[in-house]
Amino acid sequence: MIKLKIDGKSIEVESKKTIIQVADEIGIDIPRFCYHKKLSVAANCRMCLVQVKNIGKPLPACATQVMDGMEVSTKTKFTKEAQQSVMEFLLINHPLDCPICDQGGECDLQDTAVAYGTSQTRYAEEKRVVINKNIGPLISTDLTRCIQCTRCVRFLKEIGGVQELGLVGRGEHAEISAYVDKSVESELSGNIIDLCPVGALTSKPFRYKARTWELIRRPTISIHDSLGSNLEMHIKDDHVMRTLPKENDEINECWISDRDRFSYEGFYHSDRLLEPMIKKNKKWQKVDWEEALDFFTQNIKKIIKRDGEDSLAFLHSPQSSLEESYLIHKMANQIGSSNIDYRITQNNFDFSGAWLGCEIREIETFDNVIIIGSNLRLDQPLLANRFRKMVNNGGKLTLINSSDHDPLIPLEKKIICKSGEYKLQLIKMLRALYEIDPKKIKNEDVLNLIKKEKINLDTLEWLKRFIRGRNKKAIFLGQSALETKDAGDLVLLANALTESISGIFGSLSNYPNGVGLDLISHKQELHNLKEISEKNISAFIALNIDPKNDIRSKINILKTINKAKFKTAITPYFGEEFDSFDCVLPMAIFTESSGSYINIARKLQTIKAVTSPKGQARPAWKILRVLGNYLGLDDFEYDSSDEVLCKVVHPKKRLTFPSISTKSLDPNWTLSIDDANETSEIFSLEQSDMIVRRAASLQEKKRKQLANNKKGVL
Ligand code: SF4
Ligand code: FES
Repeated sequence: MIKLKIDGKSIEVESKKTIIQVADEIGIDIPRFCYHKKLSVAANCRMCLVQVKNIGKPLPACATQVMDGMEVSTKTKFTKEAQQSVMEFLLINHPLDCPICDQGGECDLQDTAVAYGTSQTRYAEEKRVVINKNIGPLISTDLTRCIQCTRCVRFLKEIGGVQELGLVGRGEHAEISAYVDKSVESELSGNIIDLCPVGALTSKPFRYKARTWELIRRPTISIHDSLGSNLEMHIKDDHVMRTLPKENDEINECWISDRDRFSYEGFYHSDRLLEPMIKKNKKWQKVDWEEALDFFTQNIKKIIKRDGEDSLAFLHSPQSSLEESYLIHKMANQIGSSNIDYRITQNNFDFSGAWLGCEIREIETFDNVIIIGSNLRLDQPLLANRFRKMVNNGGKLTLINSSDHDPLIPLEKKIICKSGEYKLQLIKMLRALYEIDPKKIKNEDVLNLIKKEKINLDTLEWLKRFIRGRNKKAIFLGQSALETKDAGDLVLLANALTESISGIFGSLSNYPNGVGLDLISHKQELHNLKEISEKNISAFIALNIDPKNDIRSKINILKTINKAKFKTAITPYFGEEFDSFDCVLPMAIFTESSGSYINIARKLQTIKAVTSPKGQARPAWKILRVLGNYLGLDDFEYDSSDEVLCKVVHPKKRLTFPSISTKSLDPNWTLSIDDANETSEIFSLEQSDMIVRRAASLQEKKRKQLANNKKGVL
């Protein structure tokens, strides 16, 4: 620790910090443009100049480390003159077009000019003009406004993982540029809009839609991936105008993915279902809620009477909130059906209780990690950044995957194999571990299985390096591994391996509320998707599922759904995918409803509605409550979603999660031709759910990417 003074305030701080970091910690404001706490230091704008006692020239606070006995002044005449001079230089070429600039009202340059600049300019010459670049459908450029802080350049290189923008030219001719005719393709690209301190980079979909002072800001979270990134919705006239990140260091830091940022466009797509509809004489008819609820109740009661309670099946989305899931389970339970599942992309149901295995930010601290079956950048772009940081901190990452999708992270080792071979890869590692120390493996079935496997010397050498010393080690199974036929065995083997080497086992499942839905369903004896698909089902109730595009499981559940005599969808959108249904009830999307979600790192987050539901749509928990009442079920009288949540989570008790459980391993397993050929499809992040698939700018970006790269490399 060292002692220093800033503006006369004596403080004790850790050495190696910079003056700007220390000033931020104690609430002393130093103006800045190029400095950002999450990026490397460029020190090129000089706006943060401060005076240090006994040093004759001003020093940049962002690039000067504190020293013992240092006396720093940020508000003297000396610093004020230095700041005013820098401000004057920065404004020489900046167009004073604030009235037509989308950044107006939230522009760092505008604010800093008022606080630290002078009210007059001495510059009367012509200003330079920079030709704008088209860098894609998400970001609008006005590069004449650029002050060359290079935040955008550093972000894409350091956080996005690839340098898609650069500063070309020198002095008066310096300008930000993309590679020839190329748009910015990073799945985190929208963050450069927030980072740009001026109006050089602004949101294209939001352009000229509203002024910042007209917007009401309300917090929510994202349900497009399993992180639950914290968001701030900016609303005008009960309409989400744009989405920004809300800082949360434990989850998303100060970033969000483009999917989280631009998917709000899908909220207002013309496919939104605004009124209940029922099918009469094979034709859809708009009806009021009462008629729709009567229609639903009569049909369900008829089917229960004729075919029995167990002829009903319920599917709900992995995006369902805890409240929705609790109520749909309660409904199935009271009716007497055990046919209910949410794992609509899985092909194996022999495991439960998997989660990340650690805090999200802990990922940065691992020394050695193996990820099996994951296209990280497409599933959870912000988790990819955590692994990138881990490698930047000196950690080593090995990727075993069925596609050669580039994670934009330097890898220690890459194994490309069919997804059916993931199990063999784990067996090889366990066999190598057995060779190193047979006592480490305790599971009898695993022992029997691996003893039959020949030792592979390459794997042996590599595993020795992996487990060496007291390194912090982890093995993660990605979404595509969890979607294989072998998923249960993969969980068992990866868990056994990490236990033997004192590492951490984690799942990178991309279900937005997978941990929460697992918590609700794990104690119940239920039929899973596969078992349901093999039954004679007479009535289907689907909650927030597009049957054509959301159900990615290869199990033929669609055939079973189509055979059912009566099908109801509680859905926010309506289209030809519901042609075979009989009743559709309009539900509110997540921003129009309250609900709770547990993210992949077991963090519970509850959100409130940020706007009202569109048309006649209602929050799904309310629809389920009313359906329960219409069906005459007990205890469906809830006045708020908080009351429902209390049934799942005791307000005064800590959440207890189920531990990982799997079915036992077949000790006679050998790799069959079928297994060896099993491959996983790659799903782009623009396909992930009903909202995202209707977000125009995201879809436009995808189309442009595919056109630029005919092979469709993502
Ligand atoms: S475009 Fe914006 S973020 Fe990028 S260098 Fe210019 S001012 Fe900085
Ligand atoms: S913020 Fe310090 S030089 Fe730019």
